[in-house]
Amino acid sequence: MKTTEIKIVVREFENIGELPENDQYLVEEARRITAMAYAPYSGFHVGAAILLDNGQIITGNNQENSAYPSGLCAERVALFYANANYPDSKVKTLAVSAAKNGILVNESVKPCGACRQALAEAEVRFDCPIRIILDGQDSIMVLQGVESLLPLSFSKKSL
Ligand code: THU
Repeated sequence: MKTTEIKIVVREFENIGELPENDQYLVEEARRITAMAYAPYSGFHVGAAILLDNGQIITGNNQENSAYPSGLCAERVALFYANANYPDSKVKTLAVSAAKNGILVNESVKPCGACRQALAEAEVRFDCPIRIILDGQDSIMVLQGVESLLPLSFSKKSL
């Protein structure tokens, strides 16, 4: 038997002004798009902004449904739009923000398991780590890749 420790590196910033300029803009876009989320059931308005390697920024927000599982998270709305329209562009960075009653949440928002799996697919597909920025009032977390969100993940490499 051997024990292996898997470490993740989380860089935390106190506020948006501490981020590099490109990241600041991406977070601002994620915040902006929260206001257009369709979230009448949870009242939790999530925004996602994706930077592609062609320089384009794609935004998305959560789209809920009265049949709850038919809704979709902001991250996958943005990611699937990006992949559908720019299938040859690598996903470089994803910023996620969330608001309740129009106010940015305190704790940085964490993507759900299904979104983590979808992001893992994009990393493998484009052979490029996706930097992830998780926005919140108290701190903004920056991760260097999906491995930090979903270690030991299943991918086509396992097939
Ligand atoms: N949600 C997202 O869009 N992204 C996340 O990272 C967490 C959760 C959505 C799903 C649902 O519409 C609402 O937030 C409450 O779970």
